[in-house]
Amino acid sequence: MQTFSQFLEIVEKYISKEKFNDKLPGLYDPVSYILNLPAKRIRPALMLMSYSMYNKDYNQVLPLAFSLEAFHNFTLIHDDIMDQAPLRRGKTTVHEKFGLNTGILCGDVLLIHVYEYLRKYSPQDKLNEILACFNKTAIEVCEGQQMDMDFEKIPEVSFEQYLKMIEFKTAVLLGASLKIGALAAGANEVDCEMAYQTGIYLGLAFQIQDDYLDIYGDNFKVGKQKAGDIIQGKKSAPYILALQSMRGEEKQQFISFFECHDLEASLKIKNVMLTYENLQIPTKIKEIKEAFQQKALQSLNSISVSENEKKPLMQLLENLLNREM
Ligand code: IPE
Ligand code: IPE
Ligand code: MG
Ligand code: MG
Ligand code: MG
Repeated sequence: MQTFSQFLEIVEKYISKEKFNDKLPGLYDPVSYILNLPAKRIRPALMLMSYSMYNKDYNQVLPLAFSLEAFHNFTLIHDDIMDQAPLRRGKTTVHEKFGLNTGILCGDVLLIHVYEYLRKYSPQDKLNEILACFNKTAIEVCEGQQMDMDFEKIPEVSFEQYLKMIEFKTAVLLGASLKIGALAAGANEVDCEMAYQTGIYLGLAFQIQDDYLDIYGDNFKVGKQKAGDIIQGKKSAPYILALQSMRGEEKQQFISFFECHDLEASLKIKNVMLTYENLQIPTKIKEIKEAFQQKALQSLNSISVSENEKKPLMQLLENLLNREM
């Protein structure tokens, strides 16, 4: 039985060996660049762990697991363009290093390669179901990303709207990773749904922690620009929770301050963070994140395989609770 970290090693090894067309470096060097930067690899690991609850011969679905990481990397290339992000995984973002047009095109081509991996390596009798799950997910990720951008332009967003947005932009892919693993292994319908639910709750906790780390994480470990969400005016979890705790004039002033684009970045970050401390936002974030983690655990518990088969997934759930990157 593999442990969670052994699954990560297996994924890492597969990714490091995977080569795209080296005859067109202008297009494929940026793809290899992002794919080989240090990353958590949780989507392919989730897929493999889900599959191996039912079938230990996971080597045959490694390319399928890889397709989920490749899709995730495609979303990151385009996300960094949309978020005007300078840093990703501790290095210059693709569009800043290779240019905007290359960022757009190498994201596009990577997405098409994802479909080739899905088409070639899905068990043939499961291909239709896997593609249906994947396509629904990919569409929702785009919808979530649009909501995220739309929210930048409106002063206030409810926590429910925020949850829908992060479910789409982040959680559905974690859900799909677990569900596709279960589908490929021939699990029954109820288990496939429970696997999906586990990923959704895990993904909500994961994105809330991402929002927290954006501000409070160690820059070096997170590998992204410090407080990029504040600079970009994102309606991230800390901001929404802060507004919920404010009233009247105080709230209006904070909204105006947050929306102002003429302020020097470090001054803006310092003041916003001070407001968050006063309102005990870090503690509130932790509570909400842990509640979703708990729901993920409950969903995982209701999958109809033995405790032993769930161990690697349990390890991952615990591991992500206190992640710093
Ligand atoms: C970043 O994903 C984008 C989000 C959905 C928060 P990860 O935090 O999994 O990034 P990597 O793949 O480890 O770099
Ligand atoms: C990214 O959300 C979600 C997707 C890439 C689909 P964020 O914009 O918060 O992710 P980071 O913080 O840049 O990794
Ligand atoms: Mg981003
Ligand atoms: Mg984004
Ligand atoms: Mg983020």
